[in-house]
Amino acid sequence: MSNDVVIQNIAQLILPKKTDKPLKGNQLNELKIIENATLVAKDGKVVYAGPHTEEYDAQEVVDATGKVVSPALVDAHTHLVFGGSREHEMALKQQGASYLEILEQGGGILSTVKATREATEDELLKKTDKSLREMMSYGVLTVESKSGYGLDKENELKQLKVSHALEKKYGITMKHTFLGPHAVPKEAESNQAFLQEMIDLLPEVKEYADFADIFCETGVFTVDESREYMKAAKEQGFDVKIHADEIDPLGGLGVAIEQGAISADHLVASSEEDKQALKDSDTVAVVLPGTTFYLGKDQYADARGMLDNNGAVAIASDFNPGSNVTNNLQMVMAIAALKLKLTPNEIWNAVTVNAAKAIDADAGTLEQDDRANFVIWNVPNYEYVPYHYGINHAEYVYKDGKLFIDNRIEVQQ
Ligand code: NIG
Ligand code: FE
Repeated sequence: MSNDVVIQNIAQLILPKKTDKPLKGNQLNELKIIENATLVAKDGKVVYAGPHTEEYDAQEVVDATGKVVSPALVDAHTHLVFGGSREHEMALKQQGASYLEILEQGGGILSTVKATREATEDELLKKTDKSLREMMSYGVLTVESKSGYGLDKENELKQLKVSHALEKKYGITMKHTFLGPHAVPKEAESNQAFLQEMIDLLPEVKEYADFADIFCETGVFTVDESREYMKAAKEQGFDVKIHADEIDPLGGLGVAIEQGAISADHLVASSEEDKQALKDSDTVAVVLPGTTFYLGKDQYADARGMLDNNGAVAIASDFNPGSNVTNNLQMVMAIAALKLKLTPNEIWNAVTVNAAKAIDADAGTLEQDDRANFVIWNVPNYEYVPYHYGINHAEYVYKDGKLFIDNRIEVQQ
């Protein structure tokens, strides 16, 4: 019987390895690349992905001569749903104000909270739809999406509902994260009182969220408060995540490992001891080099050291209106190559299989019976994507074996 699509003459087919556990250390440097390959899909699933064969026929035959095919990318850390924008903070930053100083003055996250609260669910939906379509056009078909700009029941749920509505609209896999303890709103009596409020919300948000996350940082939540929150969330059946050691070395990574978090994210300022401990844990270190770049910092997360020490590393965008304003994961792959000194193999594994592990998603591979979500890249080889930065190399994005996004540049003459 005829298949839905056959992609022929693929110059390089990228096949990350399917595993139960996240890839660690040297395993990230192993990546199967098949030259002159064929990919076949039927009923939304992969039928064949391997060396060239003429064995399969299909309704649609695509010639990928001189092009690369990979699984669709996975973005394991985004703040996709938010109101407003913060371009006015650029001048403040240029005048020397730090990220935490802007937050302390009621700007930063808190100004996005104001805009998000003011937006109706429909307005947020329209705005987020655009952000998500852009993100998907860059080859991402699995997305983690956090709340955290509502800081109260009504507005946190509003964000989570928008995220669910878009998952349904596009039929992609999204994972939803409750990030109620993202900042302390002005009206809160104290950090501790607000944290308790967010803990009390956990049973109600459970229906809408897969994960519970917290911002462990100077002036936001301490390590002890983060531990208390993670314990309470686990009791309610959540897997937990943490924004850890983004700016100051508080020890968020240590508490993540101790609490068996599915991921610990940022890790720019993590201690050597905590980074070493990654090797004996299944916690995925999600590094966000685009954020370090955007905040203009010199010190990046030591992903190289974490891998050399046998940790599991993933790379994500952290797309948000303050600390990293891009939903182009390819750009972040380039920053990972330039600043984290990761190899192309490590980078591709870190935005596919390992990113999927960081959010417990079945994605990032193209083995038989996997969901046929893949990208045809208009590049001569897989090393080219992180090399030529800032533009979109994804020419066609296929979802469930069907053409979903066509990015070819058409010029009217
Ligand atoms: O991951 N650091 C906390 N949260 C986001 C930034 C959110 C914002 O600035 O709006 C982050 O960097
Ligand atoms: Fe974040």
